[in-house]
Amino acid sequence: MLSIIYASSAVRLLNRKELVDLLEYSRKMNVENDITGMLLYRGGNFIQVIEGEDEAVLQLYKNIKADPRHKDVTMLSKDPIVIRQFPDWRMGFRNIDQMSEEELEGFSGFLDNDFSPAYFKDKPTRAYILLLSFKDSMTD
Ligand SMILES: Cc1cc2nc3c(=O)[nH]c(=O)nc-3n(C[C@H](O)[C@H](O)[C@H](O)COP(=O)(O)O)c2cc1C
Repeated sequence: MLSIIYASSAVRLLNRKELVDLLEYSRKMNVENDITGMLLYRGGNFIQVIEGEDEAVLQLYKNIKADPRHKDVTMLSKDPIVIRQFPDWRMGFRNIDQMSEEELEGFSGFLDNDFSPAYFKDKPTRAYILLLSFKDSMTD
C-alpha cells in the first residue's frame, strides 16, 4: 500500500455546502476504491493524506491534482505502508476555521503558521503529525 500527503490552496474560499458536497462525493468514491485518510481545511488551504492500494492512491492523486477547485497541489510525501494510519476514515475531515477555541486547545503550536503549500513543502513531518493529531481528537 501507499500513503501520499499533499498540501494545496482552494482557488477561492469554499462555503459549507461546497465542502460538504466535496466530502460526500469523496467518501462515496473512497468506499469504492478502498481509500482511507484525512482532510484538513484552514483559511483556504488543504492538507490531505490518502492511503490504500498503490494503483488506487496514484490514480486518486492524479485526479486530485487535476481538480480545478484547488491549485498549487504540492506532494509532501509518498511512502509505502504496511498498516493504514486512518483505517476508520473514508475521509476524516476537519474545517479548522469552524473549530472553537476549546477544541483547538493543544494545537496552538501547530497553528501559528498558515496552512499554505509553501509552508509545508519542506516540512512533511509536520503535516503528518498534524493529520494524526486531528485524527486522535476525533471521537465520532
Ligand atoms: C481538496 C480535495 C480533496 C479531494 N479528496 C478526494 C478523495 O478523498 N477521494 C475522491 O475520490 N476524490 C477526492 N477529491 C475529488 C477528486 O479531485 C476528483 O473530483 C474525483 O477523484 C473524481 O474524479 P472523476 O470524476 O474524474 O472520476 C478531492 C478534491 C479536492 C479538491
